[in-house]
Parts: sequence; structure tokens; C-alpha cells
Amino acid sequence: MRLRKMKRFKIAVIGAGDMGRNHVRSWIAAGHHVVTLCDVDEERSIALAHEFNVPNFVKDYKEAINDPQIEIVSICLPLVFHAPVTIYAAQQGKHVFCEKPLASSAQAAMDMQAAVEKAGVQFGVGFQRNYSNGVEQVKQWVQEDRFGRPLVMNCDLLQEVRPKLAMHDRNGNQGPVVDACCHAFMMWQTVFQSKPKMVYARGGIMAHERPEIAHFDQLAIDTAVITVEYESGDIGTMTVSWGLAKKFKLHGRADRIIGPKGGAEGHFNNFGNKTLQIELYDGENKETVELPQPDLFKVQFQRFAAAVEEGRPAPVGFTQGRDMLKLSHAVLESIETGKIVCL
Ligand SMILES: NC(=O)c1ccc[n+]([C@@H]2O[C@H](COP(=O)([O-])OP(=O)(O)OC[C@H]3O[C@@H](n4cnc5c(N)ncnc54)[C@H](O)[C@@H]3O)[C@@H](O)[C@H]2O)c1
Repeated sequence: MRLRKMKRFKIAVIGAGDMGRNHVRSWIAAGHHVVTLCDVDEERSIALAHEFNVPNFVKDYKEAINDPQIEIVSICLPLVFHAPVTIYAAQQGKHVFCEKPLASSAQAAMDMQAAVEKAGVQFGVGFQRNYSNGVEQVKQWVQEDRFGRPLVMNCDLLQEVRPKLAMHDRNGNQGPVVDACCHAFMMWQTVFQSKPKMVYARGGIMAHERPEIAHFDQLAIDTAVITVEYESGDIGTMTVSWGLAKKFKLHGRADRIIGPKGGAEGHFNNFGNKTLQIELYDGENKETVELPQPDLFKVQFQRFAAAVEEGRPAPVGFTQGRDMLKLSHAVLESIETGKIVCL
């Protein structure tokens, strides 16, 4: 039997920072051709272009997108640029893959979706961690009723003030509730196979006295304790902080899931290691389960490209992106009002 030959798409990666590097590397690993790199910081795109043999580098995203050979635009820009670049790319008839979080506001997300639907192009959003074999395994255990119901899932994210200071700008990347918790929210929704019903959160700005972020007009909430109840009756909880001291050594604990019959512990959606270890608790028994972990960015682009080639919607797109944004905004509303927010 002959295997069908996969189409090799021509890609423009917009943004040559940390995620830009992951996108270039992984689009190539997935078998596609990164034709152009774009960054306002030319030195960055030149260095990355040389590292991965990308033939073109430009400073203006419109120039990158206008190139007729470009088929997919891969966006790795700060949050405020997700909407304008997606909308421009869609208007030029290009498929778009955009990093999470989807957009800086619900209105911006709606504008992106309207432009993509009008143009009839495909759109995907970057929740690569959810392709983890750990998430898949825990979801399977839940479906097999190994833990019983209801479930409580707990995640931690503890980090020092981000070296990328713009992450603390309330009007920029909007802090960890919007920028980082979305990965945990995506995992909870996947494992519980249910939608969030209500959220209660408390939090504030732990790094309010740090001089390196004093120039922002408004600081984003950097620390929160979040509880989300799902329609299934399951609960997700999270402690998050980006407000800790320099070189702080106390990191977040592994993810945990517990139910009346059992539970599991491990970094379920970790994407840094080639092997995942999960402790599985079954009544009084404990077992260590080892799982291979593929390159999650590569898997993400393989699946997106296959969807584009076959003309079907991307596996993770506006529906999930908007769900996660809505939950992040509900968390912020709960912190600001002190009230439970119903979704
Ligand atoms: N999926 C994940 O696990 C994950 C992890 C980290 C970051 N992200 C997301 O990826 C996105 C980018 O984050 P990053 O860490 O790569 O940021 P970064 O600051 O490292 O890179 C952003 C790059 O965009 C460039 N840039 C800014 N404005 C531009 C413009 N108008 N035109 C062209 N270039 C411009 C900057 O010069 C910079 O090089 C963010 O949305 C972030 O939330 C996702």
C-alpha cells in the first residue's frame, strides 16, 4: 500500500522571539517549508533565519503575508497583535495559526472569527500542551471511571517576576490569569469532558513594589487562587503566581487529580521532557506509569496542516480559544468583584 503524500505548506512565521523559535523548528520538523520570518527586531529574525535556513526575513508583517507563495501565517506575537495580524492574514486569503491566548478581549476574538469565516480560511490556536500523552492518559482513566466522580484537579504555577516584563502589563499580555492559566483550563475541560459552570477566585498583585515593572500604567494581577466548578460537578483548582522573588526556588507542585476511588499525580501536560512519569493511585495500590512524550509543537502543526489540507476545521480553534478566554476573564472578574461568577 502506498502512503498518500502530505502537502508541504509554505509558512511565514510572524515574531522571532521564544515562541517564534518553537514555531520555526516545529513547522520544519513537521515537514513544511518556513519561507519567511518577520520581526520588528531585525537582528532576531536574522539570527533565527540563519539557524534554520529560512530564506527571507522582513520587518513588516504585511509584507510577509502579502507574498503570494505564503499559504499559512504562524503568529507568535504579543497578545495585542493577535487580532490585527490574524484579520489582515485572513483578508489576504491565508490560513492562520495563532499562539494562545486567542485575543486581548472578547470583542477582538469575535472580530478575528468574523474575518476568518468571511475569508473561508482555516484558523488554529496554540494549545500544544493539550496534545500531551499525560493529558490523554488521565482523560482515559477518567473515562474508564478509575477514580470515580466527582473529581478534583489541582495545578500550581509558581514563578518569579517574568524576565519578559510585558507579561505584567495589564494592557499588554495581561498577566498569568490570561497568559498562562489557559493551559490548565484547557486540560481541565479535556479531562472532565465538561464546561465550566462557575468560578471563584481571589488574588492581587504580589510584585507591586518591584521597580523593573513600575513603568507600566497598570499592572496585571500576578497572583491568584482559582476554583472552577464544572457542569459535571468536578472541580479544578489552581494557585498561580508570577510575583515571586528573583531566583526563587520553590516551584509549583505536580498536577494532581483525585476522586473517591483513586487519583494520579504528575506533570500531565509537561512539554519539556521526552518521558512523562505519572503516579497512579488505585485504592491502596500505587504504580508509576511511564509515557513517551512526543514533540508537542510538531504534533500540533501536523494536525493543523492535515486539517487545512483536508479542508476541515482545525482541531483546536475559536471554540476552545474563546472558552479559555471567557474563563480567564471570569477569574479576573471574580477577583475584582469578590463574587462567584457564573459562566
Ligand atoms: N504555547 C505556549 O506554550 C506559549 C509559551 C510562551 C508564549 N506563548 C505565547 O506566544 C506569544 C509570543 O510570546 P513569546 O514568548 O514568543 O514573546 P517574545 O517577546 O519572545 O517574542 C515576540 C516577538 O514579537 C516581535 N514583535 C512585536 N511586535 C511585532 C510586530 N508588530 N511585528 C513583528 N514583530 C513584532 C518582538 O520583537 C519579539 O521578538 C504570546 O501570545 C505568548 O502568550 C505561548
